[in-house]
Amino acid sequence: MKYALDTAHEQIQNILESATGSSSFEMKTPPPNVEADIAVPMFRLAKEKKENPVALAQRLAGEISLEGTLLCDATVTGGFLNFKLATGPFLDRVFADFSARGESFGGSEQGDGKTIVVDFSSPNIAKPFSVGHLRSTVIGHSIVKIYRFLGYTVVGDNHIGDWGTQFGKLMLAFELWGDRETVAANPIRELLDLYVRYHDEAESDPALDEQARSWFRRLEEGDPKARETWRWFREVSWEEFDRIYRLLGVEFEEVLGESFYNDQLDQVVEQAFQSGLAEWGEIEARGGKEGEGEDSPEAMEKVALIHLRDHGIETPLLIQKSDGTSLYATRDLATIRHRIETWAPEAIIYVVGGEQKLYFQQVFKAAELLGLEANCVHVPFGLIRLPKGKMSTRKGRVIFLEDVLEEAVRRAEAVLEERDLSDEEKTEIARIVGIGAVKYADLSQTRTKDVLFDWEKMLNMQGDSAPYLQYAYVRIQSILRKAAGMPRGQAVSSPRSLGHPQELTLVKTLAGFPGTVRAAATGYTPHVIAGYLISLARDFSSFYNQVPVLKAETPELAATRLELCRRTAQVLEKGLDLLGIECPERM
Ligand code: ARG
Repeated sequence: MKYALDTAHEQIQNILESATGSSSFEMKTPPPNVEADIAVPMFRLAKEKKENPVALAQRLAGEISLEGTLLCDATVTGGFLNFKLATGPFLDRVFADFSARGESFGGSEQGDGKTIVVDFSSPNIAKPFSVGHLRSTVIGHSIVKIYRFLGYTVVGDNHIGDWGTQFGKLMLAFELWGDRETVAANPIRELLDLYVRYHDEAESDPALDEQARSWFRRLEEGDPKARETWRWFREVSWEEFDRIYRLLGVEFEEVLGESFYNDQLDQVVEQAFQSGLAEWGEIEARGGKEGEGEDSPEAMEKVALIHLRDHGIETPLLIQKSDGTSLYATRDLATIRHRIETWAPEAIIYVVGGEQKLYFQQVFKAAELLGLEANCVHVPFGLIRLPKGKMSTRKGRVIFLEDVLEEAVRRAEAVLEERDLSDEEKTEIARIVGIGAVKYADLSQTRTKDVLFDWEKMLNMQGDSAPYLQYAYVRIQSILRKAAGMPRGQAVSSPRSLGHPQELTLVKTLAGFPGTVRAAATGYTPHVIAGYLISLARDFSSFYNQVPVLKAETPELAATRLELCRRTAQVLEKGLDLLGIECPERM
């Protein structure tokens, strides 16, 4: 289904096409000083026709008829041909769109029959869930929701880091210094300590490295003791991750993890050799994964690698060590194959930090050379900078994400202190507001930029924040509740009764939602939705401050304005939902 603005754009295209014989005109939003809704630049066409752009725009403005369309008033500024939306027909149409689509206003069927895979979150077991993984989780979850709203079948796959040489080290450390009960009591903390201790001791005792390798080899070969220990590490780690996912309200369709591909790795390596792509080399090279130092060979070790020099990538990709063990990249290549075979996806989206940029270039190119045809896209993001102080020292030098989230909830509770809410309500609302604030602070930034954790800004009820948007929603709910208690007779809404500039602005903003969702999908840019929601909340605020709703002049007008309120709340809630943020009913 086409939405009002899509139709308006299409009408302009058609009219200009028949007037000029040329097609694909650009549609822009004119600057605020121009009194119009859509501006079409005439420069390209003027060049083609060897005409002056202003003269061309003026000629067209005089020639074309806008009758029967959603448009009126063709005017000219500079080399732009401007159009206004014809108030009556446009209002009718937007209200009709809302009735036709109901709750799914803004969504579409463009993805029907298509599948996309989103690889996101992907923490490493036996290690803390880092703030980097938080970004991947929050951004990935939003991308999943946005694409789903556009009709795609979306497979969110948490590619847990649960395989690799580091587990050899960990198993050895556990055998030497570990204790089951201590680990069980506080798994991530204890496993991390064991891992750190391993590195300290290995510095003075290099023999440990050989033993660690042999543990990982045993794991890859399926040795029962190695497998049992590893399974247990995975289980206790997952319990902690799961708590975080529950707090965040994030779910996955698949949690296959790197270990899932264990029995498919030889095949990948064989195929790479067979096709003449891989060769044995002695090189000091590494993949791009952070901490992958552990996975990279000592200087001048024999490794199987794929050279990518001919394809503009200097660093070769390592796919196997001399002892036959696999690497991060081997597992990613097997993963791509599995995803193609299982889902035949339109695209595979990797929501992973910018520091793995080179690595994904390598893997995607190697996959292509191996004949694994997929549209793989790396969606990178910047770092999160946490505030210094108490939080970073509470449990030692690492920052535990759970502490950050709990702090957010605690601070949200303080913000809600004065409100007239029961304790039970307060607890639930503080969770929604606190977690929402953290997610929004991340998603409202341009993805590739670093995010600074700023508690004040994050929880500012007046600012560019989740609580501001949630509060706008809650306020509308309270207006609607009030309205429900008032006698109003049979009045039904009548779009054409609207006419205040604030009403029209609000309707136009609402009509912009579907295009906003599509833009956010195309660029993998949830911040486009965040920015849109802020404008919507502000437009609503000026509307509500200047136009009487409950005390409207006529019952019909009240009904129409109430519908406008209801639709605004609907879009706010949906937009926040696309960011993975919940709305409380009160706050
Ligand atoms: N576990 C990895 C890390 O923490 C991220 C995995 C990303 N996904 C992938 N298919 N490589 O760095």
